[in-house]
Amino acid sequence: MMSITSRSGAFSPYLQAAKHSVKSLVLPGTKEPLAAAGKIGVMFCVCPAPGVTRLAHTDIKVPDFTDYRRPEVVDPSKSSQESADERRAFSYLLTGATTVIGVYAAKTVVTQFVSSMSASADVLALSKIEIKLSDIPEGKNMTFKWRGKPLFVRHRTEKEIAAEQAVNMAELRDPQHDNDRVVNPKWMIVLGVCTHLGCVPIANAGDFGGYYCPCHGSHYDASGRIRKGPAPLNLEVPYYEFPDDDTVVVG
Ligand code: FES
Repeated sequence: MMSITSRSGAFSPYLQAAKHSVKSLVLPGTKEPLAAAGKIGVMFCVCPAPGVTRLAHTDIKVPDFTDYRRPEVVDPSKSSQESADERRAFSYLLTGATTVIGVYAAKTVVTQFVSSMSASADVLALSKIEIKLSDIPEGKNMTFKWRGKPLFVRHRTEKEIAAEQAVNMAELRDPQHDNDRVVNPKWMIVLGVCTHLGCVPIANAGDFGGYYCPCHGSHYDASGRIRKGPAPLNLEVPYYEFPDDDTVVVG
């Protein structure tokens, strides 16, 4: 109420003075200002609400914030503009450092979250299979279990290699040259899953000396290519590599 009244135009200086002299208008032992009591005449009302004593609180102590101020602005006689650049540089440095730490922390959290969704080490180990090639005699086929499926590793003879490489591509249902299906011609590695309905073919059987699927009579050659029967595609060649001459790692 007092603030609104004291902003009213030409009376403002007088009203401001009255605002700070309220205390002097309160007599010791009384609860109402003199103006409200009708003992002096004024043009405005400084009366508090009924039952409330209005006092100017000049006894409130303003806390000393010196400990919280930067040393450059403690002295009130010095212009704060003199140290503005220095303080601004410090603010920029603090902001930059906080940003870098925040970005690094966010990157760490995101990386850990994403890596928590990737396969664990034991699962990754199961996804590969290492095979010792010297255990497979020439002309033989061995079956391994890899990712829950049969895996055929065939040690081909020179005669088989020559025969498969000489096959006329025009005769093939799923044309693929033998050289495109092997890394080393001596080793033919395919999944032992028939491409018709998923049976496991029998090795060294069928009309072409490769694999034969007894379920519906599909014949594959020694390169795993479909030659006869209902299967539409060649046996699948997985990814594999030879770390050394005696080892192959599939997966
Ligand atoms: S599943 Fe092999 S021929 Fe049908």
